[in-house]
Amino acid sequence: MNITIGSDHGAVALKDAVKAVLADIGGIEVSDVGTFGTDSVDYPDIAERVCADVTGGKADFGIVLCGTGLGISIAANKIHGIRCALCHDVFSAKKARQHNDANVLAMGGRVIGPGPAEEIVRAFLEAKFEGGRHARRVGKIMALESSEKE
Ligand code: RB5
Repeated sequence: MNITIGSDHGAVALKDAVKAVLADIGGIEVSDVGTFGTDSVDYPDIAERVCADVTGGKADFGIVLCGTGLGISIAANKIHGIRCALCHDVFSAKKARQHNDANVLAMGGRVIGPGPAEEIVRAFLEAKFEGGRHARRVGKIMALESSEKE
């Protein structure tokens, strides 16, 4: 499995913690698009880099992090083909995959610590899309993209 991860300056420590979890799970090729320090960066730029790998097929999933997870998840969901779920609990992380077929997970480095984040990442990656009625609803979500006015 390939995962691309990125964060703004508000979640660099969480990014490192999540990368350690991914290494522990094993069998995951991780691409880290930054940022790598405390200098302020703009979270839409990070969302764009991570999501390009997902929509381009280079990554099976993306993980995007910022201070709250809000800005970067909003930005990610503007990109066609992306279903980004902001999750700060395990139940939501599971449902994001099972019901919404989320392909990007967002979390906030100023909201949760490494312990809960680890459980969320594991739950997100272990859960499988259930299809059926959920596929119909996800299809309708994706159809909203093509009905956008220019
Ligand atoms: C950056 O200061 C902060 O606004 C960002 O990390 C995030 O919380 C935005 O939603």
